[in-house]
Amino acid sequence: MCGIFGIVTNNQEISVGKVVFDGIKRLEYRGYDSCGIVSLCNSKLYVKKEAGKIDEIYKNVKLDEVPDGTKLALAHTRWATHGTPTKQNSHPHLDCLNKIAVVHNGIIDNFMELRNELSSTGHTFNSDTDTEVIPHLIEDFMKKGFNLKVATINALKKCKGAYAIAVCQVDNPDTIIVARKESPLIIGIEEGKTTYCSSDIPAFLPLTRKCYIMEDNELAVLKAGEVNFFDLKNDNELIKKKIQNIEWNIDAAEKGGYEHFMLKEIYEEPNALRLTMKISEQLLSKFANALLSADNIYITAAGTSYHAALAGKFIITRFLGKHIQDIECSEFETQLKGSLQNNSVIIAISQSGETIDTIEAIRWAKKAKSVKILTITNVVGSSITRYSDHVIVTNAGPEIGVAATKTYSTQVLALALIAVSIAKIRKIISDEDIIKYYDALTGIPNIIDKFLEKNVDLIKYIVNNLEKNMNYFFLARGISIATAKEGGLKLKEVACRFIEGYSAASAKHGPISLVREGFPIIFIAPPDETYNRLVGNVMEFKSRGGRIISVVVESDVKITKLSDITIRIPQPADKYHNLFSPITFMPALQLLAYYAALAHDLDPDKPLNLSKTVTVH
Ligand code: F6R
Repeated sequence: MCGIFGIVTNNQEISVGKVVFDGIKRLEYRGYDSCGIVSLCNSKLYVKKEAGKIDEIYKNVKLDEVPDGTKLALAHTRWATHGTPTKQNSHPHLDCLNKIAVVHNGIIDNFMELRNELSSTGHTFNSDTDTEVIPHLIEDFMKKGFNLKVATINALKKCKGAYAIAVCQVDNPDTIIVARKESPLIIGIEEGKTTYCSSDIPAFLPLTRKCYIMEDNELAVLKAGEVNFFDLKNDNELIKKKIQNIEWNIDAAEKGGYEHFMLKEIYEEPNALRLTMKISEQLLSKFANALLSADNIYITAAGTSYHAALAGKFIITRFLGKHIQDIECSEFETQLKGSLQNNSVIIAISQSGETIDTIEAIRWAKKAKSVKILTITNVVGSSITRYSDHVIVTNAGPEIGVAATKTYSTQVLALALIAVSIAKIRKIISDEDIIKYYDALTGIPNIIDKFLEKNVDLIKYIVNNLEKNMNYFFLARGISIATAKEGGLKLKEVACRFIEGYSAASAKHGPISLVREGFPIIFIAPPDETYNRLVGNVMEFKSRGGRIISVVVESDVKITKLSDITIRIPQPADKYHNLFSPITFMPALQLLAYYAALAHDLDPDKPLNLSKTVTVH
């Protein structure tokens, strides 16, 4: 949550205002409660900041206009944690003398203590944020004669919590100091010319492909086209880091003609899945063998990734012959304290690789027992990978839309590939069946392509038909409960509707009492072993006046007859395809959520109160 961006350059050709503005705009998915930019010129800091989304702010405050000759600027886009989303609480935050500016992503847990201490020695605060203690601490250490770098190190020593910070100070007009602990920070570099710092790679990708990924407890001194790294845990020793060359194409991080990232990313699913199919056999069998030799297996994640975990758990257990316990990452330690055993394996899923609850769950488990962590993430080098024994990277490409779409499908695909790898190793199904499962997986991108080609008008029609409804059920049985929960979450987050994604069987034990004439119920109904019982559930809801919208395969007859509207997925009705329906059925529900958001005049890329990367507990 929160995005930070900075630039220091000696390149006269560069418009620093435009670069820093474009950079922070690309990070807006991380938070859009407020935005601020500070530029340093002629020994003065120029701050522009305001509450709201960047485009709204820009109407009144031209954030990209900085004084002529500016060579250094920092920017911040905020997802509020401490202090309401107001101009005052927006970053950057300054010291008492307006000489030091700080932008920060993370949380300083002991800020109250520090603030009281600083206030008692005469510091004045202008915001309610935790961040504001940092410039004041640096100010104190500089007053004591330390230079900017050492003053920042000393200030950070006093801070408990998580941070990625960037600092500038008027007497050091060619230097940005950055540091990282538990919040992501990447340094982009055009050697000899320009250095960038950013919360993620796509923000500077149009400018350079060369970067360094900072690790926890590292501090860096950035000058134009030059960077030095220091190890805060080891006497602030100078360290050598490996430069990385980013292969992504910047088009992947831009809208490319689509109105929103969410729509673009739904349409990218087939290709993302094709690329994810290329995960090496060797890596898959590492995952498979680890699961086969484990005494206990857990799968953990948050939000959409947790729904992918539910679907994946179902697929894997089909072939594994062992139980997998799913636990939301925020509950992991609480629920397993006292019962986690050695020789357990934990599958952790996080598209960003930065969700703090997921990282803390595995960190705790590693500390508590001898366990193996198998991670599925979409971001190479993300924090979670540091605590993992084996890592699958899903190859979905950058996902900017706050609502996860293509990363969900590729996570489920990765889990399905592990499942088939297990089946192969265990030889529990025939070679012919293995081939059929692989063929079904390979065919998924074409099924989704075909669906997207023909069904947009139908989805828009359904959205118009349901427009006035505020409440919905998404119901299913078996593996499709995960689909119902994820489809419901999408509609909830982008279209601000209340949705219960639930088991169709359990719904009659309570939720059914909400059903009145016209109440919309979306049934997820692939023709698997639960189908006939689901027919019964559809009748229960229909007879009480429910409006039935069902998602079925093309050849479906029974549930189609009971439904007011059907969404038909162009896939064969066999057991091979049914097992992977969480992937093939999902784009329909993602599109439904997308068009519902538009119908309600909401921006699907920026759902209310959300952030793409949740780095707070
Ligand atoms: C919903 C969504 C969130 C994330 C959750 C976990 O569309 O994106 O629910 O799935 O915050 O994020 P990651 O996967 O980055 O750990």
